[in-house]
Amino acid sequence: MREMLPPEYLDLETKELERRIRAAKDALGKRVLILGHHYQKDEVIRFADYRGDSLKLSQLAAREREAEYIVFCGVHFMAETADILTTAEQKVLLPDLAAGCSMADMADIEAVEACWDILRGKYPDQEIIPITYVNSTAEIKAFCGRKGGMTCTSSNARSVFDKAMGENQIILFLPDEHLGRNTGLECGIKAEEIFLWQREMRETYEQSGEERDGLRDEQSEQRERLPEHAPRLILWNGFCSVHQRFTVEQVERARANYPEIKVIVHPECRHEVVAASDLHGSTEFIINTVTNAPAESSWAVGTEINLVHRLAQENPDKKIICLNETVCLCTSMNRIHQPHLLWTLENLAQGKVVNQISVPADIAAEAKLALERMT
Ligand code: 13P
Ligand code: SF4
Repeated sequence: MREMLPPEYLDLETKELERRIRAAKDALGKRVLILGHHYQKDEVIRFADYRGDSLKLSQLAAREREAEYIVFCGVHFMAETADILTTAEQKVLLPDLAAGCSMADMADIEAVEACWDILRGKYPDQEIIPITYVNSTAEIKAFCGRKGGMTCTSSNARSVFDKAMGENQIILFLPDEHLGRNTGLECGIKAEEIFLWQREMRETYEQSGEERDGLRDEQSEQRERLPEHAPRLILWNGFCSVHQRFTVEQVERARANYPEIKVIVHPECRHEVVAASDLHGSTEFIINTVTNAPAESSWAVGTEINLVHRLAQENPDKKIICLNETVCLCTSMNRIHQPHLLWTLENLAQGKVVNQISVPADIAAEAKLALERMT
């Protein structure tokens, strides 16, 4: 159940918030572990025991056996993954339960199962392997586990695709069209062997209020659109609202303004942006590449703004700019702030667990299969 932050926490001065967060964390000692994704605000990430990208944080959660409580400063699907990978005794908390991920919400289980049935009917001789980006709900991960598929992160998508690809295999990739296309092309799949699954048809019917059975209509339209010859890769057309807004024009502008600049972007960006950049990779890859680059080098970075600003602060010897300062804040990641963190920790210190993320055991068991197969 979502518990609301008591309003008095919002009135506290920064100094007081920080003092009390430290005090609560010290009181809990090793009983609590705070994990922070790279997109978290500075005011929050400074209290994380570990920071990382999705892969690193899920590996840390899987290894962690000491802490009773894992406070996940990130978004809902990350906390779910941590809950799946930790023991039944450990509790995972998300300081604000409204910190979701719009991309993860773009693949709901009913629509994915309907898609699966159509594909199975259309291509009975092919093996279909569902791969879901970890930015997906636990139910979608469980679906992949059940159907012999796996998860991937932006760090290991290439090796997961390599495992799944074969003569007779179709990969169904969920929910991020762009990571799927970028990875497929990198693995040698041709553009004409990729098919885009239009997941929003059903939503369009619902919004228009038409008197039709949206799901059945979607099924027959999609069946008609599918090519006779089986594609090698089918992409669910979900996307990240932050990364999809980076453009080739922004890359060209950065190069025109700073001829020596290197452009590095996250693979959730559109393929044309990735193709126009010099390098692409997960948040951890971006950080390591820029941090280890020569002094005086210049970088235009296409990812979430909190990460880019921190990278610039931590590398004063380099010129680091965001590809577009105005459009790249992940508002859901930003929901976690110091008052939420303090409230969560003070409750724990008093023996009360708020905003726990708990994946039902049957879903967790199947999702775990998919998570384990990616390693
Ligand atoms: P990473 O896998 O690079 O951590 O990215 C997660 C994410 O949500 C990017 O939008
Ligand atoms: Fe989701 Fe995009 Fe935010 Fe990542 S940046 S958590 S994919 S909305």
